[in-house]
Amino acid sequence: MDTTGTFFLPPPNSTIASDVDALFYFILYASIFFFIVVVFGSFWFAVKYRRRGKKEFTPDISHNTRLEIIWTVIPTILVFIVFLWGFNTYLKMNVVPKDAMNVKVTGQKWFWSFGYDNGITTTNELVVPVGKPVQLTMSSKDVIHSFFVPDFRMKMDVLPNRYTIAWFEATNQGTFDLFCTEYCGKGHSEMIGKVKVVSGREYDEWIASNANPGAGMAPEEFGAKLFKTKACITCHSNDGSKNTGPTFKGLFGRMERLQDGSNITADENYIRESILEPQAKVVMGFQPVMPTYQGLLKDEEIDAMIAYLKTLK
Ligand code: CUA
Repeated sequence: MDTTGTFFLPPPNSTIASDVDALFYFILYASIFFFIVVVFGSFWFAVKYRRRGKKEFTPDISHNTRLEIIWTVIPTILVFIVFLWGFNTYLKMNVVPKDAMNVKVTGQKWFWSFGYDNGITTTNELVVPVGKPVQLTMSSKDVIHSFFVPDFRMKMDVLPNRYTIAWFEATNQGTFDLFCTEYCGKGHSEMIGKVKVVSGREYDEWIASNANPGAGMAPEEFGAKLFKTKACITCHSNDGSKNTGPTFKGLFGRMERLQDGSNITADENYIRESILEPQAKVVMGFQPVMPTYQGLLKDEEIDAMIAYLKTLK
């Protein structure tokens, strides 16, 4: 993992990062250079041509063709350099290499989930092999989010009504921050995740071990793990404290008052329904903001969640 970031930029950890940085620094230093020329030039002329006595008058100069050509041609060349350089980099960022592996990315309030071709899904953690192009096919289940990994210089909006495509190739192993960078409501600042870049061998092992994630665990133990890895913890506490959603402490078997005024006992069926169809029966005093976990949790994972809830007395 390259950790040598600079004052301006985090460390470059993808194939595209050095291209982006080079253009950034070109624009930055060109701007600094002309800033100095303009500011110091202004001072210098102000002092040099200050009025010294009553008889001095500035000559009436209408124009200077040679100067005007120079200050038109130089900026035009600079703008063309920036445009061509930027366009070239933009194409590189947008044309996905043919040998890229594909990961489906779903943004929803307020977490990320990742779906792999072999059926593995993860939440807030994207695991990829180093040195391999990864195509992200992204969509949102609710509002606009934006997928941003500063170390990869990669940012793409995630929209509710169509797919957006982005790709990267990580050049170093390590764990990198993933942010949502489009304001998406109350939990926006918590919509964060990690991109774990591992060796090809570790990646294959990870794929193999995640094909059956609850293996060798008691259901309630597996449920406790899912509580964190599936991001329930973002909105539900397990210690009684208030959050976006009702606390899980003492939830199982509790009588809940619903928004329509009726009462319900939080049993297995209610919990299952609330996971798959969160808006069906919303507890009074809470907003109907929970996303559905349809397609994100398998049956045995829902069972494990219920087993875990039973332990939170
Ligand atoms: Cu999702 Cu901000």
